[in-house]
Amino acid sequence: MNNDQPLLQAYDLNGLTMPNRMVMAPMTRSRAINDKDAPTEDLHSLYYTQRASAGLIITEGSQVSKEAVGYINTAGIYNKEQVEGWKNVTKHVHEQGGRIFIQLWHCGRISHPDFHNGELPLAPSAINPHEKSFTPDGFKDTVTPKAMTQEDIDRTQQDFVNAAKNAVEAGFDGVEIHSSNGYLFHQFFANYSNNRTDKYGGSIENKARFFFETLDKVKEVIPEDKIGVRFNPSLHGTFGMKVDKETIPTFDYIIEKLNDYNLAYIHLSEPFTDVSDVQYAVSEIAKHYRPIYKGTLMINTGFNQEKGNKVIKDGDADLVSFGKLYVSNPDLVERYQKNVPVSDWDEETFYVPGKKGYTDYEAKAREAEIKI
Ligand SMILES: Cc1cc2nc3c(=O)[nH]c(=O)nc-3n(C[C@H](O)[C@H](O)[C@H](O)COP(=O)(O)O)c2cc1C
Repeated sequence: MNNDQPLLQAYDLNGLTMPNRMVMAPMTRSRAINDKDAPTEDLHSLYYTQRASAGLIITEGSQVSKEAVGYINTAGIYNKEQVEGWKNVTKHVHEQGGRIFIQLWHCGRISHPDFHNGELPLAPSAINPHEKSFTPDGFKDTVTPKAMTQEDIDRTQQDFVNAAKNAVEAGFDGVEIHSSNGYLFHQFFANYSNNRTDKYGGSIENKARFFFETLDKVKEVIPEDKIGVRFNPSLHGTFGMKVDKETIPTFDYIIEKLNDYNLAYIHLSEPFTDVSDVQYAVSEIAKHYRPIYKGTLMINTGFNQEKGNKVIKDGDADLVSFGKLYVSNPDLVERYQKNVPVSDWDEETFYVPGKKGYTDYEAKAREAEIKI
C-alpha cells in the first residue's frame, strides 16, 4: 500500500467529497440499443457501478435532443425513458458509494442527415468538416451542415437547460457541458467552423457567446458549482478542427472568464496528437492553463499512475481523468492502491453491442465482484 500517492488523496469538489482524485473520463460506448436511446440496467447501470470507486464518474456524452445526435446507439437525456434509465444508473452508483456527473452533448456538424430524417445537421456555419459519421448504415461522409438561425440557437440552448433539469431529476451529482473535441460549442469557438457575421462570430468574444449564454441559462436550473465544462484547446487535424493563431487566445479568454464563475471544475485535454510542430498550438495544456484558472482543474489524455501522481504533485492539476484505462480496469483505484498492474483495453469492443468489452473486464484488485 502506498496511499500517500497524490492521486489517492481526498478532494472537496464544492461540498462533494471525492475519496480520491481519479475521475472516469466521459466515453461513448454505444450500448443504448433501443427505440428510446435509453440507458439500460443490465448494461449501463452495471458498467458504471463497477467503476464507482472512482473519485468521480463522468458519463458518456449524452445527447440533449434528437437534433444533437451524431452517432448510433448513444444514450440521451431528453425523454422520459432516458431519465428513468439514468435514475437507475445513479441509484446503483450512489448505493455503491460513488459520485456521478452526466456529460451533456450536442454533436453539431459531426453528424449526418440519416439521423435527422434527411434534414441537415446544425452548426454555426455551413462548412463541411470533411469527417466521417458513424450512421446506422456504417461510416458515411459528413455533409455541409445548416448554419443555425437565432431560433435554432435559442432552441438548442433550451435543450441544454431541459437536459440539465432532467439530469437533476435523474439524481446526478452534476453535469459536464461537452464544449470540447470538435462538437457544437467547439465549432462556435473555431474559425475553421465559424464564419458568422452576427454576434456569434467574428471576435473572440462573439465566438464564445453561444457557450456563455448557454452556461448562464443552465446555471439557472442547476447550481453553477455542480457544472463542469470540457475543452481541448490544441485539438488539431481531427474531429474537423485545426489550430490557428486565434485558437489559443480564444481558449485563454474563455478560461480566464470562467474565473468569474464558481464551477465544479474545468476539464482539459492535453493534445490528442503531437502538436510540437503545429504553429500556434500549446503542447502542455495543464502547465499553460494552471496559472490562468483559479478553480478546480481536471486534466486528461495519456495519463497513468506515474504521470497522474506527478501532474498533481507538480501543482499543474487538481484532478486527473482516465479514459481507456477505465474501459479495462473497473477497479483502477484499487489497482493503484495495491500496485496491481493494469489490464489492456480492447479497441474492437469500444462501440459494439452487448457486455463483451463493457461489463466483463475483471476487477483483479478487488476482493468481491460488484453486482447490482
Ligand atoms: C471509446 C471512447 C469514447 C469516448 N467518448 C467520449 C465522449 O463521449 N465524450 C468526451 O468528451 N470524450 C470522449 N472520449 C475521449 C476521452 O474522454 C479521453 O479524452 C480520451 O480517451 C483520452 O484519455 P485517455 O488517454 O485517458 O484514454 C472517448 C474516448 C474513447 C476511447
